Amino acid sequence: MSNIRQVSGEERLHTAFTLYPYAFGETPSAGAAEELRDTLPFHEDNHTLIVEENGRTIATAAAIPMQQNLRGTVLGMAAIAWVATHPGARRRGHSRRLMHQMHSDMLDKGHLLAALYPFHPSFYEKFGYVGLLLNRTATFPPEGLAPLLDVTLPGEVSWQNIRDGFEVYRAFLRRVLSERHGFMFTPDFRAARARDSADRWLATATVDGEVVGLLTYRVDGYGGRLHADELLYTTALGRALLLQFLAQHAYHVSRIVITVAPDEFPETWATSITVRTEAESAFPTSPAMMVRLLSMDALRGVRCGAGRVEIELVDDQLLAGRYLLDGTGGTIDVTTTGTAGEKATLTAAGLSGLAYGVLDPVDVVARGLGEISEGAAVELRALLPRHTPHAFGKG
Ligand SMILES: CC(C)(COP(=O)(O)OP(=O)(O)OC[C@H]1O[C@@H](n2cnc3c(N)ncnc32)[C@H](O)[C@@H]1OP(=O)(O)O)[C@@H](O)C(=O)NCCC(=O)NCCS
Repeated sequence: MSNIRQVSGEERLHTAFTLYPYAFGETPSAGAAEELRDTLPFHEDNHTLIVEENGRTIATAAAIPMQQNLRGTVLGMAAIAWVATHPGARRRGHSRRLMHQMHSDMLDKGHLLAALYPFHPSFYEKFGYVGLLLNRTATFPPEGLAPLLDVTLPGEVSWQNIRDGFEVYRAFLRRVLSERHGFMFTPDFRAARARDSADRWLATATVDGEVVGLLTYRVDGYGGRLHADELLYTTALGRALLLQFLAQHAYHVSRIVITVAPDEFPETWATSITVRTEAESAFPTSPAMMVRLLSMDALRGVRCGAGRVEIELVDDQLLAGRYLLDGTGGTIDVTTTGTAGEKATLTAAGLSGLAYGVLDPVDVVARGLGEISEGAAVELRALLPRHTPHAFGKG
């Protein structure tokens, strides 16, 4: 007989964590248990579930309580991770039961969105998830940016260890969270990993004392590579200042490798820049993040266009039902009683693709995630137009 229960604190070590080394690590590894003990503080407020059979943990899943911006509204988001089943207990439905339990637990705690990195998308599509866009990696020799150094810009870039600049770093991420669709913000207990490991430099662009751009990075050696994390800025000046800062690394490092948003165009950063910008979608090594709405409340009050449509949500325990979405007032009004001329049938993944702005109604139909008449497609396209999410801030 197996049952699901929540575990916390040190109990994680001899329950959920026993499945991590085999599922996610290199094996065998003598130090795995100690390494996992060291990570305990970074799991502190995670919602960790296990399936037990005869006192032994045979499956687990966890969720990090995060926040995410959905079209300008900041909502609680459950970042689901560490989904694993003991090899001897696979294909018996344990992960399926855990996912359903996790969704309802996180919804009870007020999380209206969920996100995860899939080992394989088809597994999670069944649970209502849809893939976002991949961020790009741009790789270039810093000399390509050298012409930027000829111009004096009204601002400055300062530089320090992330441990010293941690508060500035977190305050800026919180600000970007409020401004950028798709951006995510990790809870303090998890973000502390970046401060404690202190393995990053932090470059901060400021104008009149206000932070307008920020970059965390590490250098792997003299003449080697400068590995930058996500290029984050709130203004074009912030970006220009950070690019000038990178230009200063000519003949210090041979290459700069930086993560940029899907709608960033590094080939426009300087006149003769030689740059490769790429993204590879592959499973399980480099998947795009998948997301879903856990409740229709996620759409209430969200900024939108002037569409009005009736939808029926199918094949989903959490969202199933009929709704009227009315965006004629500039924000979405969700009711269960009204009617509209145009109707669509959507799966949770189909609705999530529209809500996050990554799918057009025609894509939803083409991918088998709904049935949408031409008229309903016009309304849905107006209501929830394409909008590139910046799935940054996974921290
Ligand atoms: C992926 C994993 C967690 C699945 O656990 P599980 O307990 O065997 O999954 P379930 O039995 O609940 O299967 C749920 C559904 O997914 C399907 N499924 C299970 N494993 C699958 C796989 N490897 N590939 C494709 N589909 C799979 C099942 O057929 C089932 O489909 P159904 O609902 O239509 O019957 C497990 O194989 C594992 O621990 N893998 C290694 C770690 C890992 O990749 N974790 C996921 C990180 S995102």
